[in-house]
Amino acid sequence: MAKPTTRYACQSCGASFPKWAGRCDACGEWNTLVEEAVPDAAPKGLGVAKGRRIEFVGLTGAGAAPPRRLTRIAELDRVCGGGMVPGSALLVGGDPGIGKSTLLLQATARLAQEHRVAYVSGEEAVDQVRLRARRLGVAEAPVALASATSVRDVVAALDAADGPEIVVIDSIQTMYVDTLDSAPGTVAQVRASAQELIRVAKRRGVVLILVGHVTKEGMIAGPRVLEHMVDTVLYFEGDRGHQFRILRAVKNRFGPTDEIGVFEMTDGGLSEVSNPSALFLADRRGDVSGAAVFAGMEGTRPVLVEVQALVAPSPLGTPRRAVVGWDSARLAMVLAVLEARCGVAIGANDVYLNVAGGLRVTEPAADLAVAAALVSSLTGEPVPADAVVFGEIGLSGEVRGVGQTDPRLKEAAKLGFATALMPARAGAGRGDGGLRTVELRRLGELLPLFQQ
Ligand code: TYD
Ligand code: MG
Repeated sequence: MAKPTTRYACQSCGASFPKWAGRCDACGEWNTLVEEAVPDAAPKGLGVAKGRRIEFVGLTGAGAAPPRRLTRIAELDRVCGGGMVPGSALLVGGDPGIGKSTLLLQATARLAQEHRVAYVSGEEAVDQVRLRARRLGVAEAPVALASATSVRDVVAALDAADGPEIVVIDSIQTMYVDTLDSAPGTVAQVRASAQELIRVAKRRGVVLILVGHVTKEGMIAGPRVLEHMVDTVLYFEGDRGHQFRILRAVKNRFGPTDEIGVFEMTDGGLSEVSNPSALFLADRRGDVSGAAVFAGMEGTRPVLVEVQALVAPSPLGTPRRAVVGWDSARLAMVLAVLEARCGVAIGANDVYLNVAGGLRVTEPAADLAVAAALVSSLTGEPVPADAVVFGEIGLSGEVRGVGQTDPRLKEAAKLGFATALMPARAGAGRGDGGLRTVELRRLGELLPLFQQ
């Protein structure tokens, strides 16, 4: 039988199949199989040739590790776990147009004050990057600029003795390895390009920053393949209609993954937001029903955001549930607990839930704030304007304690709030930052607050 010359590779998970199908059997994604040439030689066993023995070394190496590279953009450095580690590879993913190139051009300009930095654009010509740099006010920074897409050329540049210490590849989807037949942007090319670049970066101790576009399904093309090849994965998110941008670490071999960096997109590029709570609450009107301020934590930093709910009679047989910035399964749970444990009937209404400012909240501690916003919208009675809310809700209707109570209360007090609706705490006399605390044991205890 003739050897097949092509195969079909899933652009999402990288699995390959001899036949095309609408759905990838490995990961279940639809329309992700793309025809690719079969690589020439299948990997064989080791054979009889003996390898060179590797040399083992002790865990306590001599000499200190090279210091981390700091961009001095505090929001970015913190998300990286305190700067970028030499010899590591970072992937910065995000929707097209969200501001990845802008962020990285600003970062490279800062880094160039202390290090040799290169910016390789595969998407824009050198003049276009210069134009952007002028707009960002960093045109004078000593960044080495190139427009290139061939990995062979980029590797040659990185491998030179006077090569850069930090290099940005914008984007990995435009890069190609000339020994492969597939088009740039396919899984095979993205994987091979990243592999070559990472290999030379590790050998040379270069910080490699790869930009990756997210497909409209919300994944970096060839996402899983790339995510486990690099050391750090950062997502740049936010919606384009909003000026806020959030940089989130989803994987980090050298730091925590729950930190976020908050930026604001302005005419002159991205500016850091060191106090996001004040910004997220800037447009708040205290006297409307259906809104509650959630005292949340993002990594080590407390962040206050407004949770907005709208409960409206539904014209449809199956009422709508629309959620922005929170988990819709979690909303369903809070609705069910309100209904079954507290007798609050919302079931036949449309429910819209929104976290203002474009932040995505992942903490279960937001349950109580969501419940307060829902009940407030249903009754038309506003949540007290000077109150923050937090606490997890259990299926039997109990309000469960959450971690890091003190920083939440401190931040709320700092921003002028006077009351906290929160889980009951064991032991009295804890620091509560001067706030009046209303401690709830059961969700039902929330309801009298709305029946005036
Ligand atoms: P960009 O960095 O090109 O996005 P990406 O590389 O993620 O595709 O950002 C483009 C958007 O940012 C574009 O819609 C214009 C806007 N922008 C500003 O608002 N201010 C600026 O100073 C710059 C450079 C871009
Ligand atoms: Mg770009």
